[in-house]
Amino acid sequence: MSLELLEEQRESWGSRGGFILAAVGSAVGLGNLWGFPYKLYSYGGGAFLIPYIVALLLVGIPLMILEFSLGHYSQRAAPDAFKGVHKGFEVVGWWGIILGFVIVTYYPVVLAYCFSFLAYSITGMFNGGKLPWAGEGLEGVANAKNFFFQTYLGYHEGMRLGGIRWNIVLPLVVAWLSMYLCIFKGVRLVGKIVWLTVPLPWLMLLILTVRGLTLQGSMQGLAYYLDPVWSELAKPVTWRYAFGQVFFSLSLAFGVMITYASFLHRKSDINNNALIISLADFATSFIAGLAVFATLGGMAFVTQQAGNPVPVENVAEGGPSLAFVAFPYALAQLPYSAYFSFVFFFALITLGIDSAFSITESVLASIVDKTGWHRNIVLPVMSIIGFAFGLIYITKGGLNWLGAIDGFVNGTRGITLLGMLECIVLGWLWRIGTLRRHANSRSDWKVGKWWDYMIRLVIPILLGILFFWQLFEDMNNETGFLRTPQGRWIPENCIGVAVLVLAPVIAIVLSLLKDRRGNIVLPHKEQDLETKARFGGLVALTSALVPTVQYIISLNIDISPSIKNTILWILPIGGAITIVLSSYILEKYNTSTTQASWPARWAGVIATMNVSMFIAAILFDLTGKAEIHEIKTPANHELTGVSYIILAVVFLIIVGGLGWCFYRAIATTSKFDGPQSPDEIGDSEEQQS
Ligand code: PFF
Repeated sequence: MSLELLEEQRESWGSRGGFILAAVGSAVGLGNLWGFPYKLYSYGGGAFLIPYIVALLLVGIPLMILEFSLGHYSQRAAPDAFKGVHKGFEVVGWWGIILGFVIVTYYPVVLAYCFSFLAYSITGMFNGGKLPWAGEGLEGVANAKNFFFQTYLGYHEGMRLGGIRWNIVLPLVVAWLSMYLCIFKGVRLVGKIVWLTVPLPWLMLLILTVRGLTLQGSMQGLAYYLDPVWSELAKPVTWRYAFGQVFFSLSLAFGVMITYASFLHRKSDINNNALIISLADFATSFIAGLAVFATLGGMAFVTQQAGNPVPVENVAEGGPSLAFVAFPYALAQLPYSAYFSFVFFFALITLGIDSAFSITESVLASIVDKTGWHRNIVLPVMSIIGFAFGLIYITKGGLNWLGAIDGFVNGTRGITLLGMLECIVLGWLWRIGTLRRHANSRSDWKVGKWWDYMIRLVIPILLGILFFWQLFEDMNNETGFLRTPQGRWIPENCIGVAVLVLAPVIAIVLSLLKDRRGNIVLPHKEQDLETKARFGGLVALTSALVPTVQYIISLNIDISPSIKNTILWILPIGGAITIVLSSYILEKYNTSTTQASWPARWAGVIATMNVSMFIAAILFDLTGKAEIHEIKTPANHELTGVSYIILAVVFLIIVGGLGWCFYRAIATTSKFDGPQSPDEIGDSEEQQS
């Protein structure tokens, strides 16, 4: 099937705004409200913004441009988009989709909690403001914890499931039904619904922020959030969390953004959209943090005045505890608590719902693209399966399953590996220049050739470091990883690993199934091009492989540390030489009539991995084993001058960045008086670089 034909048949978003809001809706989710603020607070306060912004600029935004351009170029959901690149890479697309499906089995469960707590808040509103988790002092905090964990979840430690909590079944049905209703009509309706589900949580957050900031004590709360603890920057875990958070928050690596962009109109912008969406996501996270910590500060003040003090550090906990214990408890200490609880849980629902349905839509579109089955059949079946899996997480031990699986899929073991695979497939094994030109030809501003090297080198090396570092830590974990030294299995890790291992296996099976629909045809079908640099490619491959093989052997035999060390250093030296050689071959021979040989491309992949493996090994040696993290907050809880500067810089980045994006969009529209440059420019000029 040709691209033109696809264009005629594929649905599209109603407008540019519809697409931007849908992508923002996917990015802005539960992760912004409970992930970002708590990570900032736990990993160095304002200092955490440095790794976060580094990750956003170096990895997040370039990768979002990559996913948008691939989706838009191929006009197919992730698996087919990768298949268009090369048949063998369909598996990479499915891998992301399957891990995305894993997320969509538990994300609605958290939405279900929100629906329940929303109902409690509404009951409270009609009940003289009485909330079931209200209490006073530290005892009150214990009560609020007890309400969520025992009364609501019936929680027990460990991975034993211990029976379904029937009180959460109906909210889970409501969550799935809401998602279903949002997407069953296709993306055009989604493009309209998001005009509601994106601005509404922003409005709610604004209410909570203004209200939080006007409370007495709010500035002390903000000190916990913003006062920097610079020493945290020296810890690897700070960087790992920053990168992981950027990925999860921008909905990257699971094929969502590829799929969403596949429904984009043929002439729409890519680069500017990616920047707008990334900055909007960052802004939402940061402002959500202001709302949370200002309110916690207000709560600390009120409880102190009442003679039953609850300091911020006694309630600030991550994840579900923040949303279902700390924040509701804090609100309950303040006037109009039921109303503000309603606002908070309504914000969570509207934040989460479009993220949840974005993953559902991307799984759905992948299946529909592959099989040609009708979405009206696939969606209900998928929803029922997703709901059925969700029942696991609403058992008494379900929250532990959720934590374990989320930790693996979203952490450095899942999401970063996928991001790295995406980059090496598109950067080395395919023609990244094609995607750059495709994106540039229709965007309000252009990315330079440096972007190719970000995708080919910088991002895979950075992500590779995080992945291998984690791997080295897991392999050297003194308390064991899959089994303790005493031989006892560690179930949470076994379950996490099982999910991670099963995903590529299922992905392989799916990619082997025959397509019911016509195969996608991207320009530059490799078989039609003359292959160049066969010999040069073999030389490059050898110079990449020899150090790798040496290194792996050296890990498994007994040799003196100095020889081991020498072998380790050959990795980056061989890697650098190979990278230069392969890059040269690719630049020279990937033209409209010729292509670089496969060994030359694979040499680049292996060399990139070698470099990241080397840096990870060095960093692992320097930092030692996995550490138990303790939250360090500054001793004096006053908002310092540095924190005000941090606040100003962040606002400058957000307002300045978004202002620039809008300026470019307006400038381009008035220059061309309509859509950007014609499509053909992007797709047919392989010769110019
Ligand atoms: N970005 C969403 C959040 O921050 O909550 C979560 C998410 C949605 C992750 C879609 C991944 C995804 F594909």
